[in-house]
Amino acid sequence: MDEPFTLIIFGAAGNLARNKLLPALYHLEAVGKLTEGSVIVAFGRRPWDTERWAAEVEQALVPRVRDGLDPAVLERFRQRLRYFRGDLRDEQSFRDLARALTEKPGLPDNVVFYLSIPPAEYGPTARALAGVGLNREDGGWRRLVVEKPFGYDLESAQALDRALQRDFAEHQIYRIDHYLGKETVQNVLVFRFANLMLEPLWNRNYIDHVQITHAEQRGIEDRAGFYDGTGALRDMIQSHLLQLLTLVAMEPPASLEAESLRDEKVKVLRSIRPIAAGSVHAHAFRAQYGRGLIDGEKVRGYLEEPGVPGDSATETYAAARIYIDNWRWRGVPFYLRTGKRMARNISMIAIRFRHPPQQLFRETPIEELTPNWLLVGIQPEQCLRAEIQVKQAGLEMRTRTTQLDTGSCAVGDYRLEAYETLLLDILHGDRSLFLRYDEVQGAWKVVDPILKVWSVEREFIQTYPAGSWGPREASRLFEKEGQSWRGSLRVSGEGHSE
Ligand code: BG6
Repeated sequence: MDEPFTLIIFGAAGNLARNKLLPALYHLEAVGKLTEGSVIVAFGRRPWDTERWAAEVEQALVPRVRDGLDPAVLERFRQRLRYFRGDLRDEQSFRDLARALTEKPGLPDNVVFYLSIPPAEYGPTARALAGVGLNREDGGWRRLVVEKPFGYDLESAQALDRALQRDFAEHQIYRIDHYLGKETVQNVLVFRFANLMLEPLWNRNYIDHVQITHAEQRGIEDRAGFYDGTGALRDMIQSHLLQLLTLVAMEPPASLEAESLRDEKVKVLRSIRPIAAGSVHAHAFRAQYGRGLIDGEKVRGYLEEPGVPGDSATETYAAARIYIDNWRWRGVPFYLRTGKRMARNISMIAIRFRHPPQQLFRETPIEELTPNWLLVGIQPEQCLRAEIQVKQAGLEMRTRTTQLDTGSCAVGDYRLEAYETLLLDILHGDRSLFLRYDEVQGAWKVVDPILKVWSVEREFIQTYPAGSWGPREASRLFEKEGQSWRGSLRVSGEGHSE
């Protein structure tokens, strides 16, 4: 990618652009990854000019960039910024945009259209771009980036896909799941497929169950408009957590090429056992946060958040038990859970192995052997950790758990943000970390039966105090004794687990 590009952000004043996109672009600027002559255009309705927009960008960057703003980098970055006043609903704005791109000097022909706007606007915006010929790749490439959620359910995802495919070719569409840009998420593939010793163990014969957790202390912030119509199942499980599941469960791909990887991920999604309407309650659990304490500070309950209807039954916590009915995984439960306003911020994959036979130690004080765990910390700690049993020093035969870490499991000083990786991939035209439509469709098929049941049962939803690990009842998803949620990379019993 040495060609300059024009990146047009629709919805540039929104939460995602401020929190993630602009800081990521600034960091790419800092390391010299934005080609000379490239331009970043904000498409927005406000009556701003480029000066005013640049001031807004600077404000957004201050609290979010690593190591503070560097004046020289900021100046270079500011030079790239442009503000384009326009309205998504107004055809004239798109004609003006097309004219600006063809006539104005200084706007390179390779264009990324980044749709950081409400999902309902994706189809009409793609249509409007095509209407003025901005989907054509005559002078340079044209790429369309869409954020999740891709649709609202299976049916709407299909309609959206048809709408996008009508105006853009598949190679032009980049469906983002930013989890795939996270460092340790990518490491899952390396860890699994670059280490032969794991392969014989990576199946139903040795693995008891897999847990995938994303917990965050944040509430919904100013996103009520989006979140109340979405809920945790759509927001996190349909996308990020099912993607993590596919990486843990997939067969080795033929190569690391985008299509091979996606083929294998789709196979996993297709092998997931459909949840029948009658067993949704046995397989899924939802709840909503009430008032509580986060780091000692009182916080509001979900229903008191600005913009949330007082009778909302939207879930801020969702958990599910999923089975993959293939040769490798049949019978192994995958437990997925996510929640807002939880006790801690943690994203991790925890793989528990089966209990070893007790036979050898039956004459010793060891009552039960602790099973091995393999832990993949995604954030805040990024690491791979294995828990094994060793003998405790002393006269008696007792065991204790010890941990083997790959590299450092500390919270790193340097944190590459997923969006930096993904934006660069878009500019390079590498689609391997982006979703193909059949993956999105496969994920909707998994959650659709749950959504259907939950959408008609709106009168009651369990609650949990903000700052907790969610309702205890969520443990009913576990299929047998001895399985329980793990919310920490520390050895249980060290006071860090739930
Ligand atoms: C987003 C969800 O996709 O991911 C948010 O819409 C969630 O609700 C966020 O907070 C979590 O991502 P990260 O990278 O901050 O862990």
